[in-house]
Amino acid sequence: MVLGSKEASKPIGMFDSGVGGLSIALELLKQLPGERIIYFGDTANVPYGEKSESQLIALADRITFFLVQKGVKAVVDACNSTSSVALDYLKERYELPIIGVIEPGVREAIERTKNGRIGVIATTATIMSSAHKRAAQKLDPSVKVFGQACPKFVPLVEAGKVSCKEAENACFEYLMPLVKKRIDTLILGCTHYPFLIPVIRRIVGPEVAIVDPAVGTIRELKEILEKKNMRKLSQPTGFKEQEYYVSGDPILFKEVGEKLIGTSLGRVFRVAIDDKIIENIKNGSAG
Ligand code: DGL
Repeated sequence: MVLGSKEASKPIGMFDSGVGGLSIALELLKQLPGERIIYFGDTANVPYGEKSESQLIALADRITFFLVQKGVKAVVDACNSTSSVALDYLKERYELPIIGVIEPGVREAIERTKNGRIGVIATTATIMSSAHKRAAQKLDPSVKVFGQACPKFVPLVEAGKVSCKEAENACFEYLMPLVKKRIDTLILGCTHYPFLIPVIRRIVGPEVAIVDPAVGTIRELKEILEKKNMRKLSQPTGFKEQEYYVSGDPILFKEVGEKLIGTSLGRVFRVAIDDKIIENIKNGSAG
């Protein structure tokens, strides 16, 4: 049974540089079990964390365009690196709701911190953008935000290496400076990082609150869909029933994604979304 407007029956678009956004998809299927997802992983261009602001805006724009062509009703930018620099641009350019992952994480961290000292681990691009600091400044200028770039994390997660010695060493290297700053709350400012939570937890200890922005992001999406009468209330679906597109190797994406999520992803399709293809779609000569 599908309730709501005609828009409600459409899928939700979601994108990331690779498998990281699956941590957001996991939360979407929990909070909004009747919805369908069209997921795009830009695995030919991963990691995003080392790209410039203009490169990230251009990539986010192409992917959003691709998802809009697929007929989605909303887009979740399930990547902090693009959310931190491209969200305003996307919101201005496209008419459908576009939800990012920065503000929901900061909001929850501010609610949870007791000593006002919040750590953020993220990609180099996200840390350089100071997006979390700006969001915190807006919501509660009294909190202190300490950022730490973690460039080794995304390649480890994309290779499915989330519990090896290498992951342990990298976590130690990046988290100890934050522990020394006496943070009591840690934002996982990259959607790849929730897959490293067991190792991160061992290093920061039981006292530090770990904030996965997925929860707040999907809560925000849910509120928007309900307000616009666009929520789909049908039979719950799982990872296998969703639609996946990648710009790189679909077999690798499926293998690593299934290892991280612990369930089958179904079919994964490879699509190229370079300038020429986007131009062709715009001119109506490709679909
Ligand atoms: N998972 C993305 C993020 O949240 C991108 C990571 C990357 O490709 O460097 O920033």
